[in-house]
Amino acid sequence: MNKITQLEINNQINEELFSSYLYLSMAAYAKERNLDGFANWFTIQAKEENDHAMGFYSYLLDAHGSVELQAIAKPENKFANPAVVFTEAFKHEQHITKRINFLYDLAEKEKDHALKSLLKWYLDEQIEEEANASKYVEKMKMAGDNGSALFMIDAELATRIYVPLNPRLA
Ligand SMILES: [Fe+2]
Ligand SMILES: [Fe+2]
Repeated sequence: MNKITQLEINNQINEELFSSYLYLSMAAYAKERNLDGFANWFTIQAKEENDHAMGFYSYLLDAHGSVELQAIAKPENKFANPAVVFTEAFKHEQHITKRINFLYDLAEKEKDHALKSLLKWYLDEQIEEEANASKYVEKMKMAGDNGSALFMIDAELATRIYVPLNPRLA
């Protein structure tokens, strides 16, 4: 594996761990406001991002690369309201999609077929990640300041169940 590919996979491990950190921060924001469903959804989201990081981590080791973990940046912990949390989550997923596309372009340029194969899982996952976040951006818009509508969304978010993901095994 060439040095640029190795560096960018290490950068992606950091991006995914930061995503986990960001969603954990969002979960705490929700929990502090007794939005237990929101907190459940974002806690599970944080766990999934950790799984995404581990997918790149184990790939890098199996491909005889070297893992070099980096410092994780401090995530935002102040949000104007619960709707903004989903807007920010959606924006963040769009950023991650750009990163995965960038990695795919790099793998193509380097004719790294194994990396392309791994990244196909992440490309599909990003479609889902964006769809899930944008669905709740829209639902929150519809709810507006209606307390009972927010209560219903919170109840829906409470039903999410964590299913461990390992893209290397999927
Ligand atoms: Fe991710
Ligand atoms: Fe994500």
